Amino acid sequence: MVTVITYGSFDLFHEGHYRLLQRAKALGDYLIVGVTTESYDEHRGKLNIVDSLIERIDNVRKTGFADKIIIEESVGQKVRDIQKYNVDIFVVGSDWTGKFDYLKEYCEVVYLERTKNISSTMLRAKNYPILRMGIIGTGRIAARFMPEAKQVSGLNVQCVYNPNPESSKKFADQWDVDINQDLDTMLKSVDAVYIASPHETHHEYAKRALERGLHVLCEKPLALKKSQAEELFVLAEDQGLVLMEAIKTAYCPGFNQMLGIALSGVIGNIRDVEACFTKLEDPLSRELTDLKYGGSFTELASYTLLPIIKLLGCNYQDICFSTIKGKNGLDLYTKAFFKYPNAMATAKCGLGVKSEGQLIISGTAGYIVVDAPWWKTKSFEVRYENPDEVEKYSSRFIGDGLRYEISDFVSMINGNKKSAFKLTPAESIAMAGIMERFLEEMRDT
Ligand code: CTP
Repeated sequence: MVTVITYGSFDLFHEGHYRLLQRAKALGDYLIVGVTTESYDEHRGKLNIVDSLIERIDNVRKTGFADKIIIEESVGQKVRDIQKYNVDIFVVGSDWTGKFDYLKEYCEVVYLERTKNISSTMLRAKNYPILRMGIIGTGRIAARFMPEAKQVSGLNVQCVYNPNPESSKKFADQWDVDINQDLDTMLKSVDAVYIASPHETHHEYAKRALERGLHVLCEKPLALKKSQAEELFVLAEDQGLVLMEAIKTAYCPGFNQMLGIALSGVIGNIRDVEACFTKLEDPLSRELTDLKYGGSFTELASYTLLPIIKLLGCNYQDICFSTIKGKNGLDLYTKAFFKYPNAMATAKCGLGVKSEGQLIISGTAGYIVVDAPWWKTKSFEVRYENPDEVEKYSSRFIGDGLRYEISDFVSMINGNKKSAFKLTPAESIAMAGIMERFLEEMRDT
């Protein structure tokens, strides 16, 4: 008996998939088809799969060619499957020619000619027209956004707006996008905007864009007042628009894996969350000279508040701040202390004090340490009373990590709401409320 194996995502099942499976089956007597899991696809950088694993398996099954369907969930699995199932032939389409030659040590490797003019990518583009996006603001984060956005299919960043024509021109030349000197003209020419302007302008720009029927991805902090954030989410909801606060960590796979484990009960009940993010900044930078909205808390707290809100919720009983200020009155280092009914938390932010960028979640049965920089979660450990009992986890964080939030933004606009839980309106509103309280206290002291 000749056993053949092949693998794929088989998203939006199409004729190319059908013909590949048909020919694979014809090469032997028994065909095994490996279908990739969502997390494996995410790991290898395929972020835009539409169909669920069950749907994709079902579509492969319906062809009648597969004698066995397995799931592919990790790198290196192919070699183990080939050995485990005594596979004689490994088959894949010609788009992969040469890539799997290393398997020749274990079985015959056949590259079948790919069916022309059809792919899941093409179907995704056809089902969901390319989203036209404009950028408002041209600072450092906007420059990091551009290469990341190119990694996400279904979106085209086509124009930029900055009230300062020189900055617009520089950005437009560097990233090959159009310049719009008039905001309303730009808002008329796109379906969505990414707001990367100074903090205090986020609310106004987001409001204008939502009022004109555009989806909005807005840099953190979305708003500096709770009522402003509430207003924006009502505007979005009323019109069925997507409004997302761009806290990249909320969308990154490792962070989400860690949250799942922390909330699963393995460390017992969570009693304390300590999150720290510090970055020594040039004293002449905007962050340390903008007397109204600069300082470490407005700059960094969106990150440190995130695990606290995600793990302990929005309903804290009390919050207080402790701050070290610079000569100009801006906070160089701030600790926010939270009190919850059965837990506490600390968010530490620093632009003039350096510390370990670690996240520690303490529970009644154990604790989790997320290694620095935890906001780009790559690895974490679950530890217990017995120091020998350590569970280590690692996850990929590709590039600058903005691609995860961008990909979820596009999916949500296309009607796939499976990522909406990663950062809910209530959570963004709670964070805006904390910012507001901090700024009020800073003004009063
Ligand atoms: N395949 C094929 N002909 C096509 C498309 C895919 O023979 N027109 C083959 C691939 O080479 C692979 C298998 O079908 O062996 C599963 O491919 P998959 O990556 O799931 O499909 P694509 O349509 O290539 O997906 P995407 O556009 O997301 O890369």
